[in-house]
Formats: sequence, structure tokens, C-alpha cells
Amino acid sequence: MLTDEAGGKSPRTSLHGLWSSKMAFVLAVTGSAVGLGNIWKFPYIAGQNGGGAFVLVYLLCVFLIGMPVMMSEILLGRRGRRNPVGTMELLGEEEGGSRNWRWLGGIAVVGGVLILSYYSVIAGWTLGYVYKSALGEFNGATAESVNAIFGGFIGDWRMVALVHTLFMGITVAVVARGVERGLEQAVRFMVPALLVLMLALLGYSINSGHFAEGVAFLFAPNFDQLGWDGVLAALGQAFFTLSVGMGAVMAYGAYLPQETSIPGTAAIVVVADTAIALLAGLIIFPIVFANGLNPAEGPGLVFQTLPHAFGQMTGGALFACIFFVLLSLAAWTSAISMMEPSVAWVVERFGRTRAQAATMIGSIIWIVGFGTVLSFNVLSDFKFYKGTIFDNVDHLTSNIMLPVGGFFIVVFAGWVMCRNSSSEELGGAGTIYSIWHFLARFVVPVAILFVFLKAVGLIPELS
Ligand code: TRP
Repeated sequence: MLTDEAGGKSPRTSLHGLWSSKMAFVLAVTGSAVGLGNIWKFPYIAGQNGGGAFVLVYLLCVFLIGMPVMMSEILLGRRGRRNPVGTMELLGEEEGGSRNWRWLGGIAVVGGVLILSYYSVIAGWTLGYVYKSALGEFNGATAESVNAIFGGFIGDWRMVALVHTLFMGITVAVVARGVERGLEQAVRFMVPALLVLMLALLGYSINSGHFAEGVAFLFAPNFDQLGWDGVLAALGQAFFTLSVGMGAVMAYGAYLPQETSIPGTAAIVVVADTAIALLAGLIIFPIVFANGLNPAEGPGLVFQTLPHAFGQMTGGALFACIFFVLLSLAAWTSAISMMEPSVAWVVERFGRTRAQAATMIGSIIWIVGFGTVLSFNVLSDFKFYKGTIFDNVDHLTSNIMLPVGGFFIVVFAGWVMCRNSSSEELGGAGTIYSIWHFLARFVVPVAILFVFLKAVGLIPELS
């Protein structure tokens, strides 16, 4: 899928080739964006933060902050055509006279390792659920039996370690062979199939008798429910779900042909990603209310609601199995993008082969992942700051590293980079360019800074 020719007037070429088509890139970024963040994380965080008001802030963050950051990442990646560390070093020198911008690329390497360390564990849960559904464990399930199955599964650290290992294994295997092979096919099939299955599930939710309650929970904003840490969570989730803020999209942008429209690509990805997250919410909350479950249940929410729905359907075991296979695929295409920055860095910086780099980075991630594996069983009582090890890694990456990374990415693209360079990448200085430039220079940095200061209580409430 990657070709060796640099497109158009590109002054640089990527060491790893280019995407063969615009479609290939859109699919790769969509594959990165659509994942556990949409189906596992969005509903449970929305549930923990009271629903409607959180969702509204989340949508604002996605469109006003996430999307300009995504455009900035792609444009920087394409201009530098290297791994995020190399790209930021090169562009920093070229545009800003400082090689220290490479430390921003360093966030991509560290962030990718930390995020994948827990992402792989949750993706492992979905693999485990493929197996459980195939065995028909959820047939005729009650709320209690589903909870017992979930609790028993994550409570056994050896099981979780096994599925975490399995998932890291398949991720390393793909990254080692090069991102291009297999990824396009996987996404081309997975996203439509996931959508069809989710629409079927939506049918179930609509008939659950509690659809209106679910819709109200998700869309009726009640701002009393949302503190500033909730707003920070919405901001973090916007970054997480779009895969931006740590250079994953920058790494993919390095392989983008010169003539492809960056704003057009970003718009498609953002809309598709948002639609899938909202759909997940519309499916899950009616099931929650129909069964008297707790919307603020936490990371187990999807694993405790959906099997219940499947358990009541005819042919439910088959549907459940297909659903968890698709969710695993979605997680897989996301995980691949988390490894790309660090693997490309090791290949370019240390002259290793992709296979060596992927194995090395993958092993580090696998080891770090045990912090999360044990967070739900052996070390579940070991809590500090935000909670378990998993809670802290999640908070540190989603709510701190991604917004900080995004802040510096837009500051670089909007303030340090000269207008000629950025407008050349974004297709000329038209209206879209002006809107992006304004958002990147003012709205995004100020909003991120404001939410941070509010969340740590440095700006007092007006009352
Ligand atoms: N966006 C993915 C999801 O929603 C997760 C993901 C992939 C990601 N690559 C990333 C998150 C890079 C942050 C940074 O599941």
C-alpha cells in the first residue's frame, strides 16, 4: 500500500514510503481513531460524569480543539516526513531555530508506550469476551450473572495477563511487518461491519423500553453534575478518541501524499469517530436503565451491559461473538497507531529493522502493562492519587499528556511555523485556513490552559 514515490512538490520523502491513496490514509487514521475509546471509554466516562453536560463539553472539545490539533499534526507530519521526534527536530530548526522541539516528539514515544500499556489490557478483555461469547456463557444472562462473569474474569490476573500478552503479540506482529500491510483491509471491513452491528444493537435498545431515559441522560445537560475535573475529563477524552496529542497522527501524516487535502481528511475522521461514540452511548444507557444498572459503574460498563443484551436475543451468542471480534479489530488498528511513532523513531534513529524495533518497544509495553493487569485483582487495593495504577496511568496520559502535547503542537503550527509553510500544507490561504489558524493560535491554547488551571483550582469561581 505504501509506494516509494514522493508525491507532487514534496521537498522531502519518507523513509517508509507513502500511502498509496488518499483513501488508504483516511482508513488508517479512522482505524486509529475508532477503537475502545469510542465504545468502552466514552460511555463509562460520560456515565461517571453525569451524562448530558459532559457530552456537550466533549462535543465542543472534539470540534473546536481536537479537530484543529488533528489538522496541525497531519500538516507537521507531512512537512517533516520523519518520525515525530525527527520531524519536530527538523521543523523546529527550520521554522523556529531550536532543535529542542524534538522533546515534543519525545511525548509521542513515551505517551504511546504508556497508553498502549493499559489499552492492550482492555483490548485483552475484549479478546477474552470473544471466547466467552463463543462458549455461550451469556445465554439467558441476568444482570447478576453477567457481573459475576466479568468480576471472575478480571479478578484472575493470570487470565488477564494471558489476553494482554495475546493482544500485544498480534499488535507487534503487524507493526513489525509495516503499518501498511493488512491495515487497509482490516479497516475497510471493520468500520462498516461495526456500524451495521451497532445499528442492530440500537434496535434492541430502542425496544428496551428505556430508550427515552437513555437519550435524556446522554443529551440533557445538567451542569450541576459537571465539575472542572469533569471538563478536564471531556477534554482528555476528545484527544484520546481522535488519537491526537501524542504524535500518532503525526507519524501517519509523514506518509501522506502531498496533494491530499488535510482539512477534508480530518473532517471525515472526526465525524465518523463522533458518530460511533454517540451510537455506543445510545446503545448502552437504555440497557443500563432497563436493568437498574449504575451508569457510573466505571471501566466495566460495556462488559456488563452488552452481554446482557446479547444474552436475551435469539442468536445472541453469535452476535456477541461477532461484536467482540469487531471491537478487538477496532482496538487492534488503534494499538498499531500507538506504536508507530516509537517504532519509526527506533528505526530511523538507531538504524534497527522494523521487526527489531517493534519487538523491543512491544516488550517494554508488555512489561509496563502489568501495572494495569494487576490493578483489577492483586493490586486492586493499592491506591494513590487518582486510584489504582490503571487509574493513574489513564489520568496521566489522557488528561495531562495528550492536552499538553496538543497545546505545544498547535503552538508550534500556529505561532512558530511561518504562514507560508502552514498554508501550503493546508491547501492555500482560504477561509478554512483562516479558521484553522485562528483556532490553533488562540482558541485551542487558551482553552487548554484555562481548563488545566480550573481543574487544579488556580482560577477561583465567580459567584
Ligand atoms: N483513538 C483510539 C480510541 O479511541 C485510541 C488511540 C489510538 C489513541 N492512537 C492513539 C489515543 C494515540 C491517544 C493517542 O480507541
